[in-house]
Amino acid sequence: MQRIKSLSDYFKKYELSEKDPESFWSEIAESFTWKKKWDKVLDWDFEKVNINWFQNAKLNITENIFERNLKERGDKTAIIWEPNDPSESPIHITYKELYEETCRFSNALRAKGIKKGDRVIIYMPMVPEAAIAMLACARVGAVHSVVFAGFSSTSLADRINDCQAKMVLTSDGNFRGSKTIPVKPVVDEALEKCSTIESVIVLERTKQNVEMINGRDHWWHDCISEEPKVCESEVLDSEDMLFILYTSGSTGKPKGVVHSSAGYMIYSAYTFQNVFQYDENDIYWCTADVGWITGHSYIVYGPLLCGATTVMFEGVPTFPNVSRFWDIVDKFKINQFYTAPTAIRALQAHGLEPLKNNSLDSLKVIGSVGEPINEEAWHWYHDNIGKGNCPLVDTWWQTETGGIMISALAGITPNKPAHASLPLPGILPVIVDSEGNELLGNNVQGNLCIKFPWPSIVRTTYGDHQRCINTYFSNYKGMYFTGDGVKRDHDGYLRILGRVDDVINVSGHRMGTAEVENAINEHEEVIESAVVGYPHDIKGEGIYAYVIINSKSSDDTIKAEIVNVVRRVIGPIAKPDKIQIVSGLPKTRSGKIMRRILRKVASNDFGNLGDTSTLLNPDVVEEIINGASL
Ligand code: WTA
Repeated sequence: MQRIKSLSDYFKKYELSEKDPESFWSEIAESFTWKKKWDKVLDWDFEKVNINWFQNAKLNITENIFERNLKERGDKTAIIWEPNDPSESPIHITYKELYEETCRFSNALRAKGIKKGDRVIIYMPMVPEAAIAMLACARVGAVHSVVFAGFSSTSLADRINDCQAKMVLTSDGNFRGSKTIPVKPVVDEALEKCSTIESVIVLERTKQNVEMINGRDHWWHDCISEEPKVCESEVLDSEDMLFILYTSGSTGKPKGVVHSSAGYMIYSAYTFQNVFQYDENDIYWCTADVGWITGHSYIVYGPLLCGATTVMFEGVPTFPNVSRFWDIVDKFKINQFYTAPTAIRALQAHGLEPLKNNSLDSLKVIGSVGEPINEEAWHWYHDNIGKGNCPLVDTWWQTETGGIMISALAGITPNKPAHASLPLPGILPVIVDSEGNELLGNNVQGNLCIKFPWPSIVRTTYGDHQRCINTYFSNYKGMYFTGDGVKRDHDGYLRILGRVDDVINVSGHRMGTAEVENAINEHEEVIESAVVGYPHDIKGEGIYAYVIINSKSSDDTIKAEIVNVVRRVIGPIAKPDKIQIVSGLPKTRSGKIMRRILRKVASNDFGNLGDTSTLLNPDVVEEIINGASL
C-alpha cells in the first residue's frame, strides 16, 4: 500500500478522495489479495442504510494477514506477548507460527460444527489465543463477538442472546495485576440464561479449578492436539459480516455494531499504516484490550494486515509498580506506543519518579485514543514520554467507524495540543448546528457528522436494522451522526469536545446513562434513578447517580448495595463514583428528567442552572444542591 509521505501528499490525496472516491479507494484495495475482484467500488444509501463496498468481490481477511505476508515475513515476529507477571517470560510468535496456530484452531472450530455465518463469543483475557480465536473465526467465516472479560455474567448473557451465538471461547481465569480473576464461572452463570450455546472451549491460563460440563465444555489444548497446521480458508463476500462488537448508546441495551469483511480490512490497514507511519522493523504497542474496538483494529487486524510486530500485554499499568508501561517500552524497544488519556493521567499523578530508570529512546510515535485528551495530559505525555520529539497522534474514532477518522499522521501533520486535527483522506466530516445546517469555514462549533461513506462504516446493528437507522442516520438527513461535539479552530483543525448525547465516557469506556440507571433500578428498594457524567481528574468522566429510594436501611448501606448491583449487572467499570439519595428528580411538566440541571450540580457548577420555575417540582433543585455529593 502506498503510504502518505508528506503534508503536500496528504492534501493531494485528500483532494482526490473528495473528487473521485472510487479511484482513491480502489487503488488502496489493489494492494490486497482477492479471490475475485469487485464489480463496483461503492453503492450506498444513507436513508435505508444500505452500504456496499467492493461489490461482489471475494476474499478472506486471514489470507491477507497470512498468505499475503508469509513469503516475505514468515520468520518475522507477528505478536510479542508480555504476561501479567514480569517474571514470566514473554512469548514471540512469528507470522508462520501464528498462521499454523490459527489454522489448527480453525480446524478445531470446524470440527465442533462451526461454519460460515455462525456467531462465536470470545470472552478471554489478553493472551495470544484471544487473537488466534478472532483470526480462526475469520478464517472459517464465523462472526466473532468479543466481550470484554471484565463484563458481568448478565452482560455476557445479554450479548450471547442478542446474537444467538453457538459457541463461547473462554479461559479458566485471568491474571490481572495482583489478582487472579475467575472467568469460566462467569460463563457458566451466563449460560444458565442462554439456550443457543452448543459448546464452550476453555483455554488453560491460571490453572484454577473449574467445572467442565460433559459434552458442552472442552479444553482448548485437547481441541487442537490432533489438528493439522493448515486449513483452507472460507470464501467470503466483501459484505459478509466479519464481526459484531457491542457498544453503548443513549438508549436501551448495548447494540451489536456490525462490520463487514472487505471494507474493515482495507480501512484498518490503511489507517494503521498512515497514522502511525509504521516502518518494516518497528515494534508497535497498543495498550488496549481486545474486548474494545481499539484492540480489534489496532492490536490485531490493522497491524497484522500490514505485517507489523504488535505487542499484546496481559496486565495493568500499575503492576508490579507504576513503571510497568515504561519498562515494557524499554524491554521491547517499542517504536510506536498507543494508549488512552485516562492511563496517561493516572500515571502522570505519580510524577516523574517512576520514569527515572527508563530511557524511552526507542519511541518514535506516541498516540492517544478513547476520549478527549486535556492539554495538561497532552503536554505531560508529549514532554516526558515522547521527550518532546515524538509526534503525538490524537486519534478520534468510534466502534461504529471501525478505524481512525480524524488524526494527525505521525510526523506529517503539525501537532496541535488537544486537537485530533485533520480528517484522513477519504473522510468527509461536517459540522452542523442543531437544525442540521452545515457550518462552513473556521471558528465554528457544533455536532460532528460525516457526509460520505468510508469502507469500515457500521453496516447495521445486529438483528435490528431500524435501530441503526434511528441512531446514526436520522438526526441529520443524509449524514452519519457521531454523537460528538466538535470545534473547528481558526486554522481549520478539529477539536473533539465530547459526547452531546446521553453517553458518558469513563476511563475511555463508553456507557449509556440509561444502561447504568437500569442496573441501579434492579435494586428492589430503588424507586427511580438518574445518572450523569461529571468531570473526573483521572477517568475523564465519573459516574454520578441520583437515586430515590424506598428503604429503611441507612444511606451508606444502600449506597454500597447499589454499587454491588451495578457490578453484578454490568461489571465493575460501570459502578457509580458518587451516589446522592434524593427525594425527587427535577422534571419538566411532561415528566422528562432535566438532566442539564443534574449535570451542573454534579459538576459543582451551580452558577447558572437556567430557568427552573417551569419545573414540575422546583423545590427539589434546592434539596439536590444542598445534598450534593461533591
Ligand atoms: C470518544 C473508541 C476525543 C468519542 C475508539 C467517541 C474521543 C467515543 C477520541 C467512541 C479522541 C474516541 N478525542 N474523543 N481522540 N477517541 N473518543 O466506540 O466521544 O469506544 O464518540 O471507540 O469515544 O468510543 P468507542
